[in-house]
Amino acid sequence: MRIVLLGAPGAGKGTQCKKIAEKYGLAHLSSGDILRQERAAGSELGKKAQSYMDSGALVPDELIVEMMSAAIKGLSNGGFVLDGFPRTVNQAEHLDKALSKDGRTIDGVVNLKVSDNVIIKRITGRRSCGKCGAVYHIENMKPKTAGICDKCGGKLVQRTDDTEKVVKNRLENYYLQTAPVVDYYRKNNTVYDINADKSPDEVIAGIFKTLDGLCGLKMKNAG
Ligand code: AP5
Repeated sequence: MRIVLLGAPGAGKGTQCKKIAEKYGLAHLSSGDILRQERAAGSELGKKAQSYMDSGALVPDELIVEMMSAAIKGLSNGGFVLDGFPRTVNQAEHLDKALSKDGRTIDGVVNLKVSDNVIIKRITGRRSCGKCGAVYHIENMKPKTAGICDKCGGKLVQRTDDTEKVVKNRLENYYLQTAPVVDYYRKNNTVYDINADKSPDEVIAGIFKTLDGLCGLKMKNAG
């Protein structure tokens, strides 16, 4: 199964993609996580991406398309869930073209819908494990011990682009450049809208119900 998860910054893409990948045995490809790994490694790509990410702007398409094409190619024919990519119509067109070269398509698009006031609270309260990347929230998803990751004991840190000022830029760029991607997919794919203002458990229940239906449909069409 090949899934795209869309949603504004802080909609819960990373949180829910981890659960989707686990349940359906998919690879989880997060463009933001890959970029942060490149930055931490001090690579050329990481250096080029840094100023865009810190200001809340999108990294140029040519860099992202090359990076994500390599990541997807590395999966051979396995299923995946994409988190944070595509983020412009140009990126979505490149993705469709790259997949169609070996007869593949996107099976479903899940669109997490969330209100702006919820987004600011979620992002400014987010803390991530510096070691394993697990995501927490200072109010909504607290670790057992403040500042320490439940899973690996790593130190929880705040992302440099998670300040209120940068979040407002990220949100503005989302409406300008990424919201049109939802319309792009509505033309040729089925887009499943999920109300992501609810609790994480309610949101994932809605996603699983949708994807279970999609799996059933795929099996019926294949058989
Ligand atoms: P990226 O890392 O992709 O950031 P984003 O899209 O802004 O999304 P976030 O990671 O902030 O949020 P999320 O939706 O994953 O939410 P999360 O699950 O963590 O991108 C960062 C930057 O990289 C971009 O600004 C850009 O510069 C660059 N970039 C990346 N991809 C690019 C591309 N394709 N093209 C160009 N540039 C690109 O949840 C947020 C918080 O809320 C957490 O604390 C979580 O615990 C909590 N939470 C989650 N769900 C719930 C819930 N239901 N109820 C209560 N709390 C919740």
